[in-house]
Amino acid sequence: MENMLTGKTAVVTGSGKRSGIGYAVARKLAAEGANVVIADLGVSADPDLMIKTGDESEMADIASEIAQTHRVDTMAVNLDVTSPESISRMVKAIAERFGKIHILVNNAGASFGVPNAVHTYDETAWMKTIDVNLHGVFRVSRGLLPLMILEGGVIINTASRAGKVPALFNGAYAVAKAGVIMLTKVMAAELAGNGVRVNAICPGQIATDLEKWRFGLEAQFFGSTIEEREKEMCKTIPLGRIGKPDEVADLVVFLASDRASYMTGQAINITGGQLMEL
Ligand code: NAI
Repeated sequence: MENMLTGKTAVVTGSGKRSGIGYAVARKLAAEGANVVIADLGVSADPDLMIKTGDESEMADIASEIAQTHRVDTMAVNLDVTSPESISRMVKAIAERFGKIHILVNNAGASFGVPNAVHTYDETAWMKTIDVNLHGVFRVSRGLLPLMILEGGVIINTASRAGKVPALFNGAYAVAKAGVIMLTKVMAAELAGNGVRVNAICPGQIATDLEKWRFGLEAQFFGSTIEEREKEMCKTIPLGRIGKPDEVADLVVFLASDRASYMTGQAINITGGQLMEL
């Protein structure tokens, strides 16, 4: 499957730190020949978020590393998916540099105000979680689609197993990810006539900062350790282990390529078998 994406330009949101799924996706798309836009917050921390974010210097490093390694064009751009102004700035910068895009991976995501049951959830944190995870996908897609419709393309939205199975004490995230799955289906039906395929991916447990943070919260809650929580989790996964960002990235590359030319409106599980559906 070498160079399936030569001549394409891809935008990957939330790809500005090496420990995340977004970076693995950007790298693997570039390995297939795509130019990539590394889009992330550009700051090292969101004050409401307890996880490292993609900061400007790491984003710039990633962009130059990918350009050198894979001999493609890259660009790093600051993006806050909750800000229409930030999205407009990104769209303008991409239009000036590349003119059009062919692949959009809506990968940015975060949880605020957890752990909390719905009846104790802080309203601002609830709204922000839905804003980043669901409305962010809507806003970024709406902003970039005029650059994609020119030649057709592919959108891959990162949902989650949590969008299909209740994620307890993380309700806003679960609701937002369920919304991402429906948004994917609506967009797939609406955009098919424009030559745009839209699919969602639903990862289970993937080894990133987000996952470590979640095991850390659980360890506090249950009075155990991160290692014990991870071990318990692995017992619920038929393949018996946590997944790797690169494994998710391989699925994204497949969906972005013509190998998936007859697939649209789907929400594909990548969970090591933790979620099996008819
Ligand atoms: P991560 O927390 O390591 O990375 C998320 C990225 O999104 C960071 O680079 C962060 O800076 C960026 N981001 C956060 N808020 C943003 C905003 N307002 N605007 C722009 N960028 C923003 O998370 P990870 O694990 O790499 O997750 C990537 C995607 O996969 C997320 O959508 C997440 O919800 C989803 N996911 C992850 C799973 C896992 O087990 N790690 C499981 C299921 C889904």
